[in-house]
Amino acid sequence: MRIDVITIFPEMIANAVEYSTVKRAQENGLLEIVVHNLRDFAHNQHRSVDDYCYGGGAGMLMKPEPLFEAVKSISSVVGDTKIILLSPQGKLLTQDMARRLSLVDHLILICGRYKGVDERVRQNLITDEISIGDYVLSGGEIPALALIDAVSRLIPGVLGDYESAQDDSFSEGILDCPHYTRPAEYQGMRVPEVLLSGDHKRIREWQRQQALICTYHKRPDLLRSVPLSEEDLEFLKTLKEGD
Ligand SMILES: C[S@@+](CC[C@H](N)C(=O)[O-])C[C@H]1O[C@@H](n2cnc3c(N)ncnc32)[C@H](O)[C@@H]1O
Repeated sequence: MRIDVITIFPEMIANAVEYSTVKRAQENGLLEIVVHNLRDFAHNQHRSVDDYCYGGGAGMLMKPEPLFEAVKSISSVVGDTKIILLSPQGKLLTQDMARRLSLVDHLILICGRYKGVDERVRQNLITDEISIGDYVLSGGEIPALALIDAVSRLIPGVLGDYESAQDDSFSEGILDCPHYTRPAEYQGMRVPEVLLSGDHKRIREWQRQQALICTYHKRPDLLRSVPLSEEDLEFLKTLKEGD
């Protein structure tokens, strides 16, 4: 996969993608990240890419020309391309959306700043508008990095079996179960006996039930839309009865 990022703060992106899974994905040739300084497409000697809003009001807006030209300059890579504007008005980034994006050949991410981008960019340039949550940040760089991280760890081959994303929260619609590591006992706090038993069937059952308990208490809304087995439903009934 190739991801191009268009920003006025290229170092913010370039530095942050030099760590952990995103770095490894690049080293393994599974991901290429190219960062573009939007100011390289400015039309004036001050390299400014923003201007006042028509109609008045406080704040500056990102001009359309540099954004259109930056996107045009990015040579088309084989396969399908999505041109994504990071925006608080976009569709909420979910694990399922990240999974679908991880299968796309080429993403172009546009990081807004100031009051955002000229509406013609939203209407005529982008294919998708994505938000990372119902709050407003100063710029699209942190949202772009969140998207890059969430997507890159799902690119087939990036995570090894031992760190598979398959059991992560949201992958199967519910939250992940609790995990423990050594020591088996710390200051009187013991790891649940079943995890030390070596009985893999019991361990899997315990993990599923714990994941259901977590979801029931922390995100009960998720249980409304996830496919559940007879055993899951039976177990949830006992939880409700215990309330
Ligand atoms: C200060 S915000 C502009 C907000 C805009 N005036 C509005 O209310 O919709 C500047 C830029 O930060 C980015 N941004 C801010 N919050 C975001 C969020 N929750 N998700 C994705 N991008 C966000 C966008 O790229 C946006 O263009």
